[in-house]
Amino acid sequence: MKTSVAVVLTALISALGGTSALPAASSASKAIQTQSLTGPNGEPYVPGQFFDRFFMIIGENMDFWDVEAQATFANLWKQAPNGRLLGNYYAITHPSQPNYFAHIAATSYGWNSDSPVNITGSESFTIIDLLEEKGISWAGYAEDYPITQGCYIPYAPEYANGTEVPHSYVRKHFPFVSFETIYTNKTRCNNLYNAEEFWKHLKENKLPQFVYFTPNLLNDGHDTDASYFASYIQETWINTFYYNDYFNAGALNYISLDESGNTTGFNTVPGDNNNHIYAALWGGALSNRNIYDKYDFNRYNHSSIAATLEMNWWGETGLLGRNDTYAPFFAVPNDGTN
Ligand SMILES: *[C@@H]1O[C@H](CO)[C@@H](O)[C@H](O)[C@H]1NC(C)=O
Ligand SMILES: *[C@@H]1O[C@H](CO)[C@@H](O)[C@H](O)[C@H]1NC(C)=O
Ligand SMILES: *[C@@H]1O[C@H](CO)[C@@H](O)[C@H](O)[C@H]1NC(C)=O
Ligand SMILES: *[C@@H]1O[C@H](CO)[C@@H](O)[C@H](O)[C@H]1NC(C)=O
Ligand SMILES: *[C@@H]1O[C@H](CO)[C@@H](O)[C@H](O)[C@H]1NC(C)=O
Ligand SMILES: *[C@@H]1O[C@H](CO)[C@@H](O)[C@H](O)[C@H]1NC(C)=O
Repeated sequence: MKTSVAVVLTALISALGGTSALPAASSASKAIQTQSLTGPNGEPYVPGQFFDRFFMIIGENMDFWDVEAQATFANLWKQAPNGRLLGNYYAITHPSQPNYFAHIAATSYGWNSDSPVNITGSESFTIIDLLEEKGISWAGYAEDYPITQGCYIPYAPEYANGTEVPHSYVRKHFPFVSFETIYTNKTRCNNLYNAEEFWKHLKENKLPQFVYFTPNLLNDGHDTDASYFASYIQETWINTFYYNDYFNAGALNYISLDESGNTTGFNTVPGDNNNHIYAALWGGALSNRNIYDKYDFNRYNHSSIAATLEMNWWGETGLLGRNDTYAPFFAVPNDGTN
């Protein structure tokens, strides 16, 4: 058994582009200490067991290998500080919207549509309610969000003549505005921002502790392709991802897709539902003891995000009583499968 695991690992590692050397940045960023950090409104950070900030950014509709085939993404988990590939990460369903719901709610609600819907009552409890209860700051940032701050309810921005602005912000990719616990509460709505505010908060070292970032329909690859998504990440983010000490200190940073691109055979392909997607983690929360810690083959899905936040700040999972009870939390600081 041990041998066959090693053989599989070796094969995968070579398929994934060889045993590149561990980056020099690994040890450096681990050493960076967070010091009385605050969120955008000056709220003090609530320290977590493994990290003080979770950042996530989401691309659209691509299979694992279409993304990993792009140099930007093949390099990201190898070269970003303490980077790690989650090699066995699956989206929940198709189309987009219920996957975005699952990011914060640990369930898709069995929903299978991109049409606007309001999740109400106790169904609308999400990770945001948990964070709020504990005084942990959070924010959602969306590119081309038509307002600077607050809840924007329509599906997409519109021109004066009433037609939708193409390749822009869309509601189905920004889950917060669909949850009653958020859209009825002005204080919470004020944690939703146009992405330009992200860059300001980053520059001022005032990012909140849970950061959710939604690119527009061009940059996330939805109306374009994997190569466009890769160029966007390369040009807009790689500097921050690799070299920004504030961004990486005490942080667990995450990049993935909402769902795979090939929907053929969904729910009929045994084992994987054909929804295998690229996911990578990096930042000060992680520590790679050796080359094998660069890969984690636990079977994660979007419910693992809530489980990870819960384990970090509450020391247990399942606080939403949904699939956060069953989904494994991301192994930190070392890879859990070795
Ligand atoms: C959801 O609720 C908002 C705020 O009350 C309302 O404007 C919107 O029409 C509702 N959307 C749906 C799809 O029910
Ligand atoms: C609405 O306005 C936009 C922006 O000016 C324009 O590109 C679009 O063609 C217009 N659509 C219609 C149906 O008039
Ligand atoms: C709105 O959200 C804030 C922040 O979580 C909370 O303190 C307040 O009680 C909420 N208001 C209502 C009416 O639920
Ligand atoms: C899509 O998935 C189906 C089922 O697994 C597979 O037969 C097909 O080859 C895939 N298509 C592409 C383009 O990868
Ligand atoms: C877990 O996820 C599955 C698949 O989306 C869903 O059918 C089920 O209702 C979820 N379970 C809970 C307890 O939310
Ligand atoms: C996610 O993974 C867990 C653990 O394997 C599983 O129980 C759950 O149904 C999966 N789907 C969702 C939506 O969480």
